[in-house]
Amino acid sequence: MLKVGVFGVGHLGKFHLNNWKEIAGAELVGFYDPDETNAKEVLQRYKLKRFDDPGELLTAIDAADIVAPTDHHFRLCESAIKNGKHVFVEKPLAQTMDEAHALVKLVKESNVKLQVGHVERFNPAFLAVKDLKLNPMFIEVHRLAQFNPRGTEVSVILDLMIHDIDIILSIVKSDVKYISASGVGVMTDTPDIANVRIEFNNGCVANLTSSRISMKKMRKIRIFQKDAYIGIDFLNKKSEIIKLKDQETDDANVFTFDIETLNGKKSIAISNPQIPEVNAIKKELEEFKNAIEKNTKTIVSEIDGLMAMDVAHQILQKIGNNVITR
Ligand SMILES: NC(=O)c1ccc[n+]([C@@H]2O[C@H](COP(=O)([O-])OP(=O)(O)OC[C@H]3O[C@@H](n4cnc5c(N)ncnc54)[C@H](O)[C@@H]3O)[C@@H](O)[C@H]2O)c1
Repeated sequence: MLKVGVFGVGHLGKFHLNNWKEIAGAELVGFYDPDETNAKEVLQRYKLKRFDDPGELLTAIDAADIVAPTDHHFRLCESAIKNGKHVFVEKPLAQTMDEAHALVKLVKESNVKLQVGHVERFNPAFLAVKDLKLNPMFIEVHRLAQFNPRGTEVSVILDLMIHDIDIILSIVKSDVKYISASGVGVMTDTPDIANVRIEFNNGCVANLTSSRISMKKMRKIRIFQKDAYIGIDFLNKKSEIIKLKDQETDDANVFTFDIETLNGKKSIAISNPQIPEVNAIKKELEEFKNAIEKNTKTIVSEIDGLMAMDVAHQILQKIGNNVITR
């Protein structure tokens, strides 16, 4: 049985509690949250032990699930690792690059697993296409959300765009060559809306727009590569593949029509891959537990978390607003 303690039971922490309760082989030992309102709600709803001292909770568990605001990630992770506890920490790994590097070093020197909550890696729309031969040359990303004070302790880059940065780094097998970016703080002192162009050494270009001040929500990645277009709708959990083929296919799930190209007649094949029934938060927590039990690398490791933060901080420097605490 993996004994788990949750640090932070606000909006997302409650989803984590619900999921841990359903994961076989995991035992929720208790939680720590300094906020009286959230703690009382959890006490009533979940009948789970509240710890007044985070250190006491740490001694009672094998793994810490850190779902506190980003400016608390480093301290909470640091004390968990120093106490020999495995760590699941919500994205982003930490707030500053110094903190992220220090956490990577601590994990390396210890015997613990760390996973970062880049939950889009487990989004069923992404799972449906991630095993295709992806070789993106142009990526267009839109992640738009309505304004919510939660998460504004950091910029939109570390709050929302970091999800897409992590996904892009996981599918583009090349180093970043150049970044250009612009952003504006409309509702807060840090960028709330930003547009970023990331150029990779292999020629791939990713164009990302993130906003937390939009009227409508959108979470889409469009991938263009030599032989195909792949669209991933993370919000509505749908994906679409469009390919150019020499002949029509008789697959009933693929819609085709003919077009004239420079090389003669070709078929356009449009398909919507089967989307697996996956609860992304449950899946990421289960995979974290599996990595501990099997002593394997976590799917989104501390290095992945650091790499996403590195790109995020380069973006912030380009925007010229690296003041990330309000
Ligand atoms: N993966 C995702 O898609 C996703 C979505 C939303 C939030 N998040 C991340 O989850 C984290 C929490 O976000 P939220 O929306 O639940 O925020 P929230 O404000 O709703 O909840 C945070 C909770 O943490 C508590 N807290 C503060 N300091 C603490 C400490 N030192 N120890 C323990 N608890 C503490 C607060 O009292 C509050 O109850 C953030 O890092 C955020 O980036 C990730």
